[in-house]
Amino acid sequence: MKSNPYFNQLPDNYLFTEISARVRIFREQHPEAQLLNFGIGDVTQPLVPAVTDAMHAAVDDLTHRNSFRGYGPEDGYSFLKQAVIQNDYLPLGIQLHENEVFISDGAGSDLGNLSELFTADNRVAILNPAYPAYLDTCVMAGRAGTLLENQWSRIICLDCTADNNFIPELPAGQADIIYLCFPNNPTGTTLTRSQLQMWVDYALTHHSIIIFDGAYEAYISDKDVPHSIYEIPGAKEVAIEIRSYSKSAGFTGVRCGYTIVPEATGLRSMWMRRQCTKYNGTSYVAQRAAEATYTPLAKQQLAQQINYYKQGALLLRNGLEQLGYNAYGGINSPYVWVKTDTDSWTFFNRLLQQCQVVCTPGVGFGSEGDGYVRFSAFAGYDQCQLALQQIKQL
Ligand code: MLT
Repeated sequence: MKSNPYFNQLPDNYLFTEISARVRIFREQHPEAQLLNFGIGDVTQPLVPAVTDAMHAAVDDLTHRNSFRGYGPEDGYSFLKQAVIQNDYLPLGIQLHENEVFISDGAGSDLGNLSELFTADNRVAILNPAYPAYLDTCVMAGRAGTLLENQWSRIICLDCTADNNFIPELPAGQADIIYLCFPNNPTGTTLTRSQLQMWVDYALTHHSIIIFDGAYEAYISDKDVPHSIYEIPGAKEVAIEIRSYSKSAGFTGVRCGYTIVPEATGLRSMWMRRQCTKYNGTSYVAQRAAEATYTPLAKQQLAQQINYYKQGALLLRNGLEQLGYNAYGGINSPYVWVKTDTDSWTFFNRLLQQCQVVCTPGVGFGSEGDGYVRFSAFAGYDQCQLALQQIKQL
């Protein structure tokens, strides 16, 4: 047996596993400490009643012989695909066919699995900093090349720095696969329609595919920020869009999301073929729960929940600025990206030891993230208030 050698090129721990390990050690040493957790972007508010009612009803369906469901369709039930099309796309003027919508167990799995559609010699462009799963999956697939002085030889890094307002420039050469995430994780910044159009035009010219991670779409409030890449003319030919109910409806534990693979990309039937072999479908209860997020009552309840997180994000951003930090994001995003006066891990340790506040070290998202930390406002508004009081002590 020969194991996949590319795994040896990865850091020993995934970013959030490493943070959990450090936090666990701190808790063992300081059992009395009341930690405030702004690390992983995990929701803290419970599911809204309109969703849990639907889940209870779905469980009841499974208890009766005539409404029981076993294996569902690998690509998801029609009731949810239709709800997605009618609610998330038609209001934006985007027409999709049901077979272009693939229901998933959340964005994470598809982001990694999509990589199987492409040969190893494709050149990949990834934002720096970026959600670590994009790079990790490229490394696992042997697509990243070799790591020399913190730089992967075959990865095109799209630097997002304060100097370019965290808006990446187009690659100078050929990028075949481009990972974009807007509203951005971790910087919290967004692209306007015209900025996103430049990426679609690039992909059309270079025959590239954009994997567009729209996990934070629900946090957009600015009018000029597109909710879907398919609002941009030409995008259906060059973009796969990934969405999740994790951050929009608190499904990080329930697990449900979807991926749009338009026919015009030429990849739809390949993705279907892949899913039929390797995926047995998302659970019926989770899909009914996701369907329920589109009822008028759920929309109202979820808007309140998202607003609650957004208020916390804004409070954090403003509060940290008042304390003298340069803070970014936090407006169309649950994440606040903060410049630190040391490297990321030193600041992370200082915040943990002196303030009992857990954040995410920016360097975990890429070399350009060093000297920054990320705060996740999913901790909740009250926790944001408390954290600011404790950070004042630094
Ligand atoms: C994050 O904290 O960046 C994400 O929420 C983690 C995830 O979605 O897997």
